[in-house]
Amino acid sequence: MMSHPELRHSRIAGTGSALPARRVTNADLAAEMASRGIETSDDWIVDRTGIRARHFAPKEQASSDLAVQASQQALESAGLSGAQIDLIIVATSTPDMIFPSTATIVQRKLGIVHGCAAMDVQAVCSGFIYALSIADAMIRVGTARNALVIGSEVFSRILNFDDRTTCVLFGDGAGAVVLSASDSPGILATDLHADGRHLDILCTPGTVAGGTVLGDPFLKMDGQAVFKLAVGVLESTARTVLEKAGRSEADIDWLIPHQANIRIMQGTARKLKLPMDKVIVTVDQHGNTSAASIPLALDVAVRSGRIRRGDTLLLEGVGGGFTWGSVLVDY
Ligand code: UT7
Repeated sequence: MMSHPELRHSRIAGTGSALPARRVTNADLAAEMASRGIETSDDWIVDRTGIRARHFAPKEQASSDLAVQASQQALESAGLSGAQIDLIIVATSTPDMIFPSTATIVQRKLGIVHGCAAMDVQAVCSGFIYALSIADAMIRVGTARNALVIGSEVFSRILNFDDRTTCVLFGDGAGAVVLSASDSPGILATDLHADGRHLDILCTPGTVAGGTVLGDPFLKMDGQAVFKLAVGVLESTARTVLEKAGRSEADIDWLIPHQANIRIMQGTARKLKLPMDKVIVTVDQHGNTSAASIPLALDVAVRSGRIRRGDTLLLEGVGGGFTWGSVLVDY
């Protein structure tokens, strides 16, 4: 790859997102589950999570399809063509296939044929934060100039719809950004962490071997354990990334947390002394879309005119692994 030593920063040049057409409300889900003798309600789901609806993809719509739609929007808003992209990173835990990576499938579907690097990142719900941090680092050292950074998921594929403690929480979708080299930031600081000791509180432990599924291929979660860890690490990574950038809570215009549960977001905002009207919330309409949730929320807020050029954004992810991290951005 070409080296661009004079370019020291990366900047979000454009955003995009995609949702499957089918919107499923809590009432729809409760009725479908009741027909199988499983009890849940709109009241329980809204009260415990803030979720009112989510989107589910049909079998023929894969993570790569949602990623392509989101990428096309992001490219358009950045005013770039696929030919100008020299790095594609897809964060996903629901890839199209075991291999090749969803990123190479996206590259092919976008018609990008000049041989740019493409790879997947697996950090579950923190995946987009990991992917954005990697793309930022690659741009800063000069190995990439324009990166497509995507979070895309079809979590409905790994939900056990007989398990009411998990199946009401997740949804499908994608979000993408174009990250471009710039002589001013851009991304101000990044902060990534993982602690594999907690891997069993949120996992999909099955795999495929000898032509059959080995182990359980459905998502499992100890919700309360995840909740407690999430609130603590989201506060600590926020403070770390602010310190790295020499900024304070007062500088944050918008907090864009991983969209898992409104109560976790409220707890994080409280600790950072941010009013909820500075928090971008889409969990009510999308549910938890894992690696897609942050770029999806970012794009919704940009397109609605709430987030404007010059705003300072704190993006924060937390999820299976356990993984967590944040990115501070001058948009
Ligand atoms: O993206 C990765 C990050 N994931 C998360 O951030 C998830 C974090 N955890 C959570 O969001 C919450 O822990 C949950 C929303 C998963 C659960 O909320 P909770 O307030 O911790 O509820 P709970 O697990 O303590 O369950 C309370 C009750 C239980 O009944 P009993 O034992 O008190 O009789 C559950 O069986 O609610 C019951 N319950 C339900 N009831 C109706 C659990 N799921 C449901 C349901 N509908 N869907």
